[in-house]
Amino acid sequence: MRLRNVPNAYEKLKACSNFVPEPRDYKGKWKKYFDNDNPVHIEIGPGKGEFIVQLSQQNPHINYIAIEKSPAVLVKIIRKIPDEGIHNLAITVFDAGNLEEIFESGEVEKLYLNFSDPWPKKKHAKRRLTSPKFLKIYKNILKPGSIIEFKTDNRPMFDYSIETFKEEGYNLIKITYDLYNSDLLEGNIPTEYEKKFHSLGTPINKLIAVYEADNAATEERKDDIHPQE
Ligand SMILES: C[S@@+](CC[C@H](N)C(=O)[O-])C[C@H]1O[C@@H](n2cnc3c(N)ncnc32)[C@H](O)[C@@H]1O
Repeated sequence: MRLRNVPNAYEKLKACSNFVPEPRDYKGKWKKYFDNDNPVHIEIGPGKGEFIVQLSQQNPHINYIAIEKSPAVLVKIIRKIPDEGIHNLAITVFDAGNLEEIFESGEVEKLYLNFSDPWPKKKHAKRRLTSPKFLKIYKNILKPGSIIEFKTDNRPMFDYSIETFKEEGYNLIKITYDLYNSDLLEGNIPTEYEKKFHSLGTPINKLIAVYEADNAATEERKDDIHPQE
């Protein structure tokens, strides 16, 4: 995403009641932050935020956290938030490479990745939000059984991601190379990037992956259960 310098973006964000300046303070305590026991779902790289604003308004009984590394981009979400705020939405500026600093293991129950930067050069592959490095990080914060939903216009990035999700042991339960002609379209909320690419006629790819606790972890848990002597 090309960034224009937005003067005082961070100051403007701080004035928004949905903004969390110090997300590390809430590690293991997000339900306390929202003051309820509802599940926590996150979006990484929300950009200007249209998707997460609509999603949070549609589902008042889910707590949403939008995690964006660029204040200059995230600041655009402010004008989409009504004056009274959105009670079940938190927005924060943070690099997803450090997610374990803001979430306890199992604290997150769903994760959205929409039109993540493809970083086409091989030498930058580690920066892709679906690289093995990131998929490992997600396993450390997701509750087993949780879903990751990923949409992109970029076919090479999508093909790469199908492989990395499989390699990391996620269970791919849905894959479409043409979201707008698939049964996954029902209830779809388009993002800013999605609207642009769809209007240009570019097919939109989507996958849904489930994180099941891996076998190693299951074996470890089994070892913890000692039969009575
Ligand atoms: C191509 S934009 C897509 C924006 C939006 N999801 C959409 O579909 O319109 C990708 C966004 O991900 C953000 N991003 C990239 N890497 C990130 C990271 N490591 N942590 C948090 N946000 C990241 C970028 O700053 C950018 O705003």
